[in-house]
Amino acid sequence: MLTKENGDMLNIALPKGRLGDQVYELLSGIGYDCKSIYEQNRKLIFENPQNNVRYLLVKPSDVAIYVEHHAADVGIVGKDILLESRPDVYELLDLNLGKCRMCVAAKTDYIEDRDRPLRVATKFVNIAKEYYASQNRDIDIIKLNGSIELAPILGLSDVIVDIVESGSTIRENNLKVVEEFQQISARFIANKISFKFKNQIISQMVQRLSEALTER
Ligand code: PRP
Repeated sequence: MLTKENGDMLNIALPKGRLGDQVYELLSGIGYDCKSIYEQNRKLIFENPQNNVRYLLVKPSDVAIYVEHHAADVGIVGKDILLESRPDVYELLDLNLGKCRMCVAAKTDYIEDRDRPLRVATKFVNIAKEYYASQNRDIDIIKLNGSIELAPILGLSDVIVDIVESGSTIRENNLKVVEEFQQISARFIANKISFKFKNQIISQMVQRLSEALTER
């Protein structure tokens, strides 16, 4: 929870990695910079009291958890995570960054046997279940946490449901995209209580972000 001392600042959960770097560039460009973020150290919290912001460096898949539980006021998270975990937050803006597609992929010579349930390996259990329910297709889910592309190669699954960005991982592991069913990009989200009590600064940030995005 936000404490009284940090309650006045805007706490921004920034995903660690390339997406976070891109979003920080965008935010610093519209007046929410925090130079100490470039320091080479293992710190996870960076603040700039002049701009009234505090950045929290968070694992990308955890951003929505911090925001939903009010440990951060706002955050930047992929639509894939929002669809998978359905956090109770406001989704305020599509940042058009970190674009990729949610896909079904399989070995290049794969032919589906519709007489038995499809074995689906994925990190995105809910997304996969929902997709195949919409197709009226019985599936057995195999939940993995990474290197999903290995599953069909080793016969652990028939297909995978995963994000494809450049397509390199699919190509370099001799897989093919069978179906592309959801466009993904980064979203700016807010905690519902913060949105009410810090509405001015959050709305200003959204406004400036959308202006900066249109200028790109
Ligand atoms: C993601 C995803 C794919 C890959 C797609 O994995 O699960 O494996 O990126 O990107 P590409 O189309 O540009 O090759 P990530 O790098 O997050 O690693 P993971 O295997 O640990 O999930």
